[in-house]
Amino acid sequence: MLVLDPFAGVGTTLIEALKQGDDAIGFEINPYAALACKTKIQTAKYDVSILETTIARFEDYGEEESWLNGKPRSRRPRGFRSRVPFFSPDIELQVLACLDFIEEQTTGWVKDLFQVAFGSVMVSVSNYSYEPSLGTRAGTGKPNIEFADVFGIVRRKLLEIRQDIVTFQDWMAKHGRTPSATVHPLSYLDHAHRIEPHSIDVVITSPPYLNNYHYLRNTRPHLYWLGMVHEPSQLKAIEHRSFGQFWQTVRSGPEVVLNSCMPQLVEKLRELRGRHPEKGVYGGSGWANYATVYFNDCQRFCANTLSRMRPGGTVVVVIGNNILQGMEFQTDRLFAEIAEREGFKIVDMHEVRKKRTGNSIVNSSVRVGTVKRRVRLYETAVELRAPGSRYLN
Ligand SMILES: C[S@@+](CC[C@H](N)C(=O)[O-])C[C@H]1O[C@@H](n2cnc3c(N)ncnc32)[C@H](O)[C@@H]1O
Repeated sequence: MLVLDPFAGVGTTLIEALKQGDDAIGFEINPYAALACKTKIQTAKYDVSILETTIARFEDYGEEESWLNGKPRSRRPRGFRSRVPFFSPDIELQVLACLDFIEEQTTGWVKDLFQVAFGSVMVSVSNYSYEPSLGTRAGTGKPNIEFADVFGIVRRKLLEIRQDIVTFQDWMAKHGRTPSATVHPLSYLDHAHRIEPHSIDVVITSPPYLNNYHYLRNTRPHLYWLGMVHEPSQLKAIEHRSFGQFWQTVRSGPEVVLNSCMPQLVEKLRELRGRHPEKGVYGGSGWANYATVYFNDCQRFCANTLSRMRPGGTVVVVIGNNILQGMEFQTDRLFAEIAEREGFKIVDMHEVRKKRTGNSIVNSSVRVGTVKRRVRLYETAVELRAPGSRYLN
């Protein structure tokens, strides 16, 4: 079976597919998430003893502190701006020494694993934290982090990764054949054609929600400090190709027009556009642009996916409702309607979670006429079926 996750994140779906003995393809636009995903899905190939030796060398390097006397070759990324210094001075010196060690690694997958390990702990030793978006620690009343054992923290992460690799390899040894997985570090919306037409049996995915959670900004430190991005224009280019883009990207552009012929949604977007005109693009007009781009991308997603599905194949999309400017959008239902218009059959709408956390929960009451109604945030697994062969040309 061939499984696709078009929004692969750090690879959860792809790993589960491999564990079932299935082949898998993923797309992930965020270079840091794509790297984490790539390292995970290639785990079966890794020689753990090489990793262990390198972790031991890393530990020695950290303890010798020879790097304290020399000057690190790595530099603070020039294009990276932060409101307060991202790392305190003592920590930054260790970080640069760690990056020097990583840079010296000549075995590609070892270097990748070290980058992922460093990336997964770097915020925990910084003056920033996730709340759930990235912000200064000071902004949430937490003290800055002046001192930390960066080498020890990265090393412990690497040992956890090593254990995960061993467990995964044991699991995979059960299969008669080794299934394969690939992740494309690209936008699915623009590059779905890289998949053979009518080759996908199952899609399991969760796209970005209509809550403007800024995946890219939240990994800005990773992207800059690991040298994946050097200047803001590179981030902008990724933002423009992201699913739904972001409110910040599209709020002030010209009025966006909905591509699907859905009169009720058009009317709802018109109502949204009319909210709080006194706030300019910060009011309804900016959010209506964002929501329209989002639903247009839902349509592009469905059209792309239909052309890649094997006749009768299954698509499961986990998606939640959202609240914009006090208006509830039942994104799951709207998504299902768009999918149906594109040619999918709606099989079921499974409620997977009743309550979500996240930034939209703070707005979870909606005005209906003159009264305010509490709106429950939920998530649905929308199950779709691709048409059978007789529908295909
Ligand atoms: C809800 S997350 C997926 C989480 C994933 N299921 C996991 O376990 O990590 C959505 C992901 O879609 C990615 N994304 C956004 N636009 C994309 C696009 N056009 N092509 C591919 N990936 C995209 C984001 O970077 C983000 O990692």
